[in-house]
Amino acid sequence: MSKKETPLFPLRKGLHSRQAHVDLPAGTFEEEHARKGFYGRTTHLYRLHPVTDWTRIEGPLRPHSYDLNGLAPSGDEAIRASMFGSTEAAFAPICILHNSDVALHWVAPSAMDFFYRNADGDDVYYIHAGSGKLETTFGALTYAKGDYLVIPRGTTYRFLPDHSEQRYLLIESFSEVTIPDRNQLGPNAIFDPAMLDTPELEPYDATPEGGPREPEAGAEGHRPQDGPKGEAQEGPREWAIHIKRENEITKVYYPFNPLDVVGWKGDLTVWRINVKDIRPVVSARYHLPPSAHSTFLANNFVICSFLPRPFEEEEGAMRVPFFHSNIDYDEVLFYSDGHFFSRDGIGAGMVTWHPQGIHHGPHPKAIPLSRTKDRTDEVAVMVDTFRPLKATPAAGAVENLNYWASWK
Ligand SMILES: [Fe+2]
Repeated sequence: MSKKETPLFPLRKGLHSRQAHVDLPAGTFEEEHARKGFYGRTTHLYRLHPVTDWTRIEGPLRPHSYDLNGLAPSGDEAIRASMFGSTEAAFAPICILHNSDVALHWVAPSAMDFFYRNADGDDVYYIHAGSGKLETTFGALTYAKGDYLVIPRGTTYRFLPDHSEQRYLLIESFSEVTIPDRNQLGPNAIFDPAMLDTPELEPYDATPEGGPREPEAGAEGHRPQDGPKGEAQEGPREWAIHIKRENEITKVYYPFNPLDVVGWKGDLTVWRINVKDIRPVVSARYHLPPSAHSTFLANNFVICSFLPRPFEEEEGAMRVPFFHSNIDYDEVLFYSDGHFFSRDGIGAGMVTWHPQGIHHGPHPKAIPLSRTKDRTDEVAVMVDTFRPLKATPAAGAVENLNYWASWK
């Protein structure tokens, strides 16, 4: 926000709190009506009822919740094919929400016997469950639960997960993913950019045994030595790269392992950072807006991380999110770990989507519950999008249709 926009002396009408989120007038519920995801122009409304106490909703606009635990890792083939173009069981992202800036997918890869390259956008993975090794053009990285992996558009890569259950949230960005400015907090706040890990080159393995690993027993898909149609072929082994462009897959084959980079210099590469290395900004006396928890930024959307932190300790300072309709953004929250104090009936592996224009806020039990605790242990990933999102049939299959009534 520029200096010119800074409203030093907001207008004040009727009952109100002079300091937002602190010492609300008795019997009122505060709503924040704000631009730009709560760091633009703002007015606080003091209401006599929670704005989510509706009796019914007619029409398509409503809060949504989805239980991704019910989404089959390999998915329904027709849904996968229609949303993504890939039907390879080893790597078949299932799209749940999307617009022209970003698409959210649920992925449960097994060891990939082919490489993948996204020509449509950058891929940001949040590892909800599982661990393994990521091989890329720039070298290899191990990864584990709580890691973000940021893979720039055009990078060739594949996952070699271990044998534990794998569940990743994929945030596919159609513009470059960057780190937000820290402004007055200084460049080392929230996480020091020096905490970003990058891949290390491994010795090139040119032997037929090197390169792509055999798929796990029972895995579908064709073997590395198979031809483009999956028919067993005699002759030299081939390595395949599956390239996604406008959601269609093109397969390019090489007679050698295409991860043959033996050196590189530059500032464009793959990043890894674990949520344990992100240090949330907090205030003991004031509930900070979600923008204080921004982790990555791209055109028209932001990725925020809500992480274990102490609650506001001062009597009178709000501890739970205010009521709001986030008028400029659709809000998606993926709940990964811990106790989600502001949401009743939400567990790990679930997603809520609050489209712009209709309200949400803390569930009725959350406000008294927050007063009994000193800190929150939640781990959640938020994606705020400027343009409205659309849900896919795959998301519809795991939707809790009564979520809109959960504030009663
Ligand atoms: Fe929200």
